[in-house]
Amino acid sequence: MKAAVVKDFTAPLVVEDVELPEPGPGQALVKVLYSGVCHTDLHAAHGDWPVKPTVPFVPGHEGVGEVVAVGDGVTRLTIGDMVGNAWFWSACGACEFCETGRETLCPEQRNGGYSVDGSFGQYMLVDAAYAPVIPPGVEPSAVAPILCAGVTVYKGLKESEVRPGQWVLISGVGGLGHIAIQYARAMGMRVVAVDVADDKSALARRHGAELAVNALTDPDPAATIKEFTGGGVHGGLVTAVNGAAFSQAVGALRRGGTLALVGLPPEQFPLDIFSTVLFGLTIRGSIVGTRADLAEAIDFFARGLISPTYTVRPLTDINAIFDEMTAGRIDGRVVMDMSAS
Ligand SMILES: NC(=O)c1ccc[n+]([C@@H]2O[C@H](COP(=O)([O-])OP(=O)(O)OC[C@H]3O[C@@H](n4cnc5c(N)ncnc54)[C@H](O)[C@@H]3O)[C@@H](O)[C@H]2O)c1
Ligand SMILES: [Zn+2]
Ligand SMILES: [Zn+2]
Repeated sequence: MKAAVVKDFTAPLVVEDVELPEPGPGQALVKVLYSGVCHTDLHAAHGDWPVKPTVPFVPGHEGVGEVVAVGDGVTRLTIGDMVGNAWFWSACGACEFCETGRETLCPEQRNGGYSVDGSFGQYMLVDAAYAPVIPPGVEPSAVAPILCAGVTVYKGLKESEVRPGQWVLISGVGGLGHIAIQYARAMGMRVVAVDVADDKSALARRHGAELAVNALTDPDPAATIKEFTGGGVHGGLVTAVNGAAFSQAVGALRRGGTLALVGLPPEQFPLDIFSTVLFGLTIRGSIVGTRADLAEAIDFFARGLISPTYTVRPLTDINAIFDEMTAGRIDGRVVMDMSAS
């Protein structure tokens, strides 16, 4: 089968023939139809984070396809089922986090396209107990971005504790952010968005943001947001890939507000102790979502409430797609068609 392989953190991916994986006990082999391209795949391919994947590996954790074989003991999936892979690929099921509804914190978890080969190939393995099942009638290319971007922002919005009718800030209107605006609206929130380009502001408005700020041209984005919302946003979600966006988002919070950090630029940001304490701010991290969060996120999509903006490209475009992502030139998400490779 063909796959895009990371061989070296400083070199382009190589699209080449690799051996077809065999499903072990509890696993299924999936013929991949489409895979979204997440900025996390780019961080993975560059070895950006403290815990690095082992090369060579195949990235990709927004894969959708059909089960073509199952390993021993698999009862949840059968041949012909439409399933996906996810960043949260599997977990131990028995630790304190798995046992208390916080399975995405499991220290034994495996991650799709990171510690297990992912969906940037014509076939992939999934764990039959953890793979999301795609409901019938759903367009497989359109649901792909839900498997990471969708579930991550849906969970992050829950973590922001913003209630219906209140203001939420979506910082970064890329693959995650433009979908976050749609979930926020579906959850009854009012949206202000920030990015660093006018075409991202247009994308944000198209999906329902009431205010879209260009942080490069607005002299004080936090002040603009505070004025527009009458005191600041009740909560926010930072999906931006730049550390500067994080402090800016803290500055846009209303007193008592909560900020969920989702973007993962390999940077730090200064947190002002005085205003965090006096204004009772909560700053927390949010990582993808549990199996239940993912099923809920897919259900929002299947009911027609979320329509990702995306472009379909062949797997052989992967290095060009990463270059465009680095430059912030992607409108929404790119979804790769594995049959076109
Ligand atoms: N926490 C999680 O579970 C989780 C899950 C998926 C992705 N991520 C991370 O989220 C981040 C975003 O992923 P994506 O696929 O949406 O990336 P993307 O490249 O599609 O979007 C990033 C957006 O950030 C914008 N941006 C850059 N600098 C900015 C600034 N200073 N202010 C505001 N916006 C700015 C870019 O213009 C772009 O629109 C990545 O770091 C990724 O690794 C985290
Ligand atoms: Zn992702
Ligand atoms: Zn566990």
